[in-house]
Amino acid sequence: MRDELRIVPMDETNYTDAARLARENLREGWSEKTYEEQLKNPSDRTYIAYFGEQACGFLSAWYVLDEIEINNVAVEKDFRRLGIGRKLFERLFEDLPEAERTVLEVRESNAAAIGLYKSLGFVQAGIRKDLYSHPDENGLVMIREKG
Ligand SMILES: CC(C)(COP(=O)(O)OP(=O)(O)OC[C@H]1O[C@@H](n2cnc3c(N)ncnc32)[C@H](O)[C@@H]1OP(=O)(O)O)[C@@H](O)C(=O)NCCC(=O)NCCS
Repeated sequence: MRDELRIVPMDETNYTDAARLARENLREGWSEKTYEEQLKNPSDRTYIAYFGEQACGFLSAWYVLDEIEINNVAVEKDFRRLGIGRKLFERLFEDLPEAERTVLEVRESNAAAIGLYKSLGFVQAGIRKDLYSHPDENGLVMIREKG
């Protein structure tokens, strides 16, 4: 049988997959303990993408009042540019149709992430100088309005 992409919410059976993907693919990834703590956070909306049995991407967000805040998104190197990042966002937006806007911050040199966000309708709303360290770098604030 052909493997298919599945996107599932994070739960107590799979949060270690999100932590591994963060550790291996992000400079500012959270610890396993922090992902575990998100299971008790009513605002948390984290999804993990599986190709067959392999966890290949995840997206972590919080939904507070009418706003989605993106915390992290990453796709395993060998699985990039296959539409998985886009599908993770589409699942989040499908599950929260009432959200008025979605906000995120991104390193200004992260062309892949900025390309993904623009393709989803995010626009640059501001710059936060030296938001990031190791190396120091400005953060772009990007927003996607509903509709
Ligand atoms: C950013 C990231 C999540 C994108 O995931 P992905 O699954 O490869 O993205 P998709 O295949 O869904 O791409 C969708 C669109 O985004 C844009 N995009 C994706 N990667 C791009 C790149 N390297 N350069 C330019 N645009 C890119 C394109 O418009 C693409 O559509 P197309 O392939 O039809 O041209 C992935 O590159 C990644 O994990 N990077 C390392 C972690 C990271 O930087 N995360 C963001 C900071 S928290």
